[in-house]
Amino acid sequence: MNVGIIGVGHYLPDNVLTNEDLEKMVDTNDEWIRTRTGIEERRIAPDTIDTSDMAYFAAEKAIEDAKLTAKDIDLILVATVTADVPFPSVACIVQEKLGAFNAAAMDIGAACAGFIYAVDTAEKFIKSEQYKNILVIGSDKLSKITDWTDRNTCVLFGDGAGAVVVSEVSENRGILSTELGADGSGGDHLRQNSDGFLSMNGREVFKFAVTQMPESSINVIEKAGLAKEDVDYLIPHQANIRIMEAARKRLDIPEEKMATTIAKYGNNSSASIPIALSESLNNGKINTDDLIVLVGFGGGLTWGSIALRWGL
Ligand code: ACO
Repeated sequence: MNVGIIGVGHYLPDNVLTNEDLEKMVDTNDEWIRTRTGIEERRIAPDTIDTSDMAYFAAEKAIEDAKLTAKDIDLILVATVTADVPFPSVACIVQEKLGAFNAAAMDIGAACAGFIYAVDTAEKFIKSEQYKNILVIGSDKLSKITDWTDRNTCVLFGDGAGAVVVSEVSENRGILSTELGADGSGGDHLRQNSDGFLSMNGREVFKFAVTQMPESSINVIEKAGLAKEDVDYLIPHQANIRIMEAARKRLDIPEEKMATTIAKYGNNSSASIPIALSESLNNGKINTDDLIVLVGFGGGLTWGSIALRWGL
């Protein structure tokens, strides 16, 4: 059985926070942020929109795009590190909002690699024939746990959600190979501290990411029996343009074949890969039968990648 993505959607809050706005909040400047990270602006959700609301908005679009109804969904997986509350899970809140009452529901925590973990989990549930249509969502409201007085972190993140429906697809299409990994010994480099804020050793995370993203991408390409020349499109986690560029160059992929949303949205954590996928489809960057590599890394430390042949 071949398993792939049959519907995609995303949601971004309307409120834009620019680098110039941040200059008024902390000791930083547009030039530093642009050259060190590639970020120009990010979206920040208001108090009235929580992680589950963004997840729901993205999910509705993905289900419609898949030409299904909420009742067709039999499992909901939400990748997040910013759940509205520890329980009920975001997945259960979304189930109720959608009226997807035939679905089991749970959250998956693997930080910015969470969406890759959740899609890989969905593929295995479908291959085992336990479920048919799985809604996978990446939704994070990092603004809730951002210390807005810390210039080392507050310039980097934004809020948003992306969703896909994972189901059986035709032969030779869909997911070809996956890889998940974790290194708990690096947990202190990127964590929620005792004050509840995101804290980060940027240099250590940078070193980890520039090595791990290209390596993991190459691993899934080789596992699929393909070579890097076969890759048509790369969708990396949008954490820092310099990290993304390192991965792109290692894979010898031209600039126009890499999804880049970081300038407008910053780092959306678990939502960054599905948002980039959704925007790339909307902009006509992905064609049927293209070989796509999705690759993410995040707190944990965690990483994961997927090679897939696009199409139903
Ligand atoms: N504005 C101005 N100066 C700043 C800012 C800022 N916003 N932030 C830090 N600086 C200063 C530092 O204090 C430091 O000053 P010093 O030399 O006087 O001490 C100087 O800039 C250089 O700091 P570095 O940390 O060396 O800067 P670097 O080039 O490493 O860039 C960055 C920092 C952008 C954080 C980079 O290390 C990075 O992107 N790391 C990876 C981060 C990441 O990917 N995080 C998300 C992971 S995904 C997830 O799970 C959420």
